[in-house]
Amino acid sequence: MPLPHPASSSRPADTALLAALREQLGEAGVLTGRDTDGYVEDWRGLYRGRTMAVVRPADTDAVAAAVRLCVQHRVAIVPQGGNTSMVGGASPHADGSEIVLSLSRLNRVRGVDPVDMTLSVEAGVTLQAAQAAAREAGCLLPLSISSEGSAQIGGVLATNAGGNNTVRYGNARELVLGVEAVLPDGQVFNGMRRLRKDNTGYAVRHLLVGSEGTLGIITAAVLQLAPQPRSVEVALCGVASPEAALALFSEFRRRDPSAIQAFEFMSGTGMALVTSLIDGATLPLAETAPHYVLVELASGRETAGLRELIEEVIGQALEDGSVADAVVAESGAQRAAIWRLREEHSEAQKRAGASVKNDVSVPVSKVPELIARATAACEALVPGVRIAPFGHLGDGNIHFNLIQPADMTREAFLARDHEIMDTVCAVVRTLDGSFSAEHGVGMLKPYMMPDWRGGAELDAMRRIKQAFDPLDLFNPGKLLP
Ligand code: MLT
Ligand code: ZN
Repeated sequence: MPLPHPASSSRPADTALLAALREQLGEAGVLTGRDTDGYVEDWRGLYRGRTMAVVRPADTDAVAAAVRLCVQHRVAIVPQGGNTSMVGGASPHADGSEIVLSLSRLNRVRGVDPVDMTLSVEAGVTLQAAQAAAREAGCLLPLSISSEGSAQIGGVLATNAGGNNTVRYGNARELVLGVEAVLPDGQVFNGMRRLRKDNTGYAVRHLLVGSEGTLGIITAAVLQLAPQPRSVEVALCGVASPEAALALFSEFRRRDPSAIQAFEFMSGTGMALVTSLIDGATLPLAETAPHYVLVELASGRETAGLRELIEEVIGQALEDGSVADAVVAESGAQRAAIWRLREEHSEAQKRAGASVKNDVSVPVSKVPELIARATAACEALVPGVRIAPFGHLGDGNIHFNLIQPADMTREAFLARDHEIMDTVCAVVRTLDGSFSAEHGVGMLKPYMMPDWRGGAELDAMRRIKQAFDPLDLFNPGKLLP
């Protein structure tokens, strides 16, 4: 049942703010009441908040003007892009006292430079549209995540998203040359430089990247592009165990580390959900397997010998029995069909019921131990829970996701989310891992911060927050406990 919405706030101070925002942004730039419905609930359906209004500025100056008005009225701001956060990072709280600031209308590609290999884009451009702009210029934007059709550049950078190509190109942070942002005092920080080398003091852009909107609102960025690959090979392998998946990764890396574009792991449980719940998703193998691996190789050279490499490595693994069955894509359409089996994992899990997601990372060598120990611990904790780990094996980031048992209600299962997350994280900790690899902290995980990042590290974060946002008006209640 959706919560009732305040048509608009009735506090005189808030009415004055809304009137000022309307005057600044126009009627279409300020949504209230039911028009805010699409902005107050997160993709997972975990957080259903309320907001005084959604403001939709169309350019950077309008973002700055809206920020100044909110600060003047001491009203907090929740920046929002494509609203695809997995940790409630872009959701307003339930009391309706905040303004959601949507960046969707800042959707211009400002320029692509194929010589410098840079792309300048505004925050509201979807990752998919940014990839297309790079491709049209003959380049590659080497950042790919399952939600790229909706996720927007501002949010991708604010959360330092990782995704499928981190193994080769790093996370979003590694691609950011320049950033433009509105700071909590209403100033525009113009750091849209496109230099590979620029040692001129604190790297403010890197403070903003990964700050989850708590230090500034990213309005545009300059991204480093890569050469477009001229040859690509994709294979799907059925493997007996996570150890076999890791051995396959090690073998590809031993043979040619520079060729690995993505190396993804999927559980048999997760794959079965995809093939049974997603229209047109079929397994291109003769038999199902306990686990699967998707490997993508790519090269800037047309004659890089990738086909031989992928066939040799997989052929050898088929012979020694570590791979049970495999298919190498013969066309672009087959490559896309194999990738779809991976990318639909989150959607299929959502359709299967409530999920408790553990977006964790460990050193790559520890992935099999993580999966074995966390599986045993969770099965003991919640009998009948469906365990579907998957993710970016090549960089050690596993989405250790659990789906509610068939005989448990959504509410009863989600009521145990901290208990389950803490159980998984206890294993992660002994393996020197992290409790959040690429989804961020958001509203879901600030409670873990003192334990994991306490002492000098959390102290430093608090002091940085205080220096940027002394009134705590930028995405309060997110990231910091
Ligand atoms: C993905 O890699 O598909 C998402 O980050 C994962 C998730 O649903 O946990
Ligand atoms: Zn992921």
